[in-house]
Amino acid sequence: MRASPIRRCPRAHAEISATWPRGRSSRRAKIWGVSANECPTGQQQTGTHDSAFLKACRREPVPHTPVWFMRQAGRSLPEYRKVREGIAMLDSCMRPDLVTEITLQPVRRHHVDAAIYFSDIVVPLKALGIDLDIKPGVGPVVENPIRTRADLEQLRPLEPGDVPYVTEAIGMLVRELGATPLIGFAGAPFTLASYLVEGGPSRNHERTKALMYGDPQLWADLLDRLADITAAFLKVQIAAGASAVQLFDSWVGALSPADYRRSVMPASAKVFRAVEGLGVPRIHFGVGTGELLGLMGEAGADVVGVDWRVPLDEAARRVGPGKALQGNIDPAVLFAPREAVENKAREVLDAAAGLEGHIFNLGHGVLPTTDPDALTRLVDYVHTRTAR
Ligand code: CP3
Repeated sequence: MRASPIRRCPRAHAEISATWPRGRSSRRAKIWGVSANECPTGQQQTGTHDSAFLKACRREPVPHTPVWFMRQAGRSLPEYRKVREGIAMLDSCMRPDLVTEITLQPVRRHHVDAAIYFSDIVVPLKALGIDLDIKPGVGPVVENPIRTRADLEQLRPLEPGDVPYVTEAIGMLVRELGATPLIGFAGAPFTLASYLVEGGPSRNHERTKALMYGDPQLWADLLDRLADITAAFLKVQIAAGASAVQLFDSWVGALSPADYRRSVMPASAKVFRAVEGLGVPRIHFGVGTGELLGLMGEAGADVVGVDWRVPLDEAARRVGPGKALQGNIDPAVLFAPREAVENKAREVLDAAAGLEGHIFNLGHGVLPTTDPDALTRLVDYVHTRTAR
């Protein structure tokens, strides 16, 4: 399956090198596992460049509409539950062998067009020494929430050496995946801030908003630090071989467009700028973001993820030209009979017919009790129906 190795990718390498602090090239080469004439994005060695997924991200013609699912690796798969038995979520994220196995499971089973690196948005925060855990059935819980300027000092910059297991796991994955692209990801500044300020998951984000409205300078400084951490974390993944990156701003739909533009967009835009020109498409996604889609594209995404509340043709009008879209079947639809799933999938494909680039996905992550066979059938349906 693997394309014959091509040993040079000077442009991407030069750009990655240029963005990294000077004077640490030997350390960088060691940590990043790249030598001067290897392509850090790995695309030319492995043949991912011509995959349907990356073509759709670049808005080029595709042989079929590419499909992947947010949270495709996880509790819906019996093989996932088996390998995770007795191992805490965050511990599993720090074991490259386990990360590799779990990331590959949905690719083997469903024949999706891309893998997504198995991890969690709070992993870089944990790597910085923040005392947090992922509680089953609850989500990330932070022991000492960040609410004052003194609390902010907990957040130091992220160095590649803080997450060696990420570099190692991605290296293994890229070799295993061959021509199938690997999506790296990170939580966006607002969504990370919401966990850090609330101390855990929140329905109304009241403490987060209290800080945002009550102390705009502290809020801006918090988001700016999170932007730097997130950018560094994405660069580690790109240098190790990720073919695309997705910035999850899952909870930003809680904000109005004016508040988003003023209080969040500068930080998200900083993340996107930091990974611009590295040869990997940048995907941006949030839930309930119908009113924010245009701004989220403007923040610097190449691909805008859409939840199930806005049809893709309408989303394309809101986002404007020059961007691909990703989405957007309601994850709960997968609990309906096969015919109903196919009807909904057809609706999504019909709405996407005039798009410049479309990546089929759910409107949010796979729900833990989803029948995995329904996911496999959906991939097959989209591939068959869109084969050109
Ligand atoms: O998509 C994938 O397959 C990659 C894996 C992935 C996980 N988390 C694994 C995970 C990704 C991309 C994430 C991102 C993530 N984590 C987000 C953004 C995406 C989204 O869903 O909106 C958010 C908000 C989190 C925070 C988080 N982590 C929550 C809300 C939960 C669920 C808690 C629960 O148990 O219900 C987690 C835990 C988590 N992250 C699990 C997995 C597979 C479940 C933990 C387990 O299996 O024990």
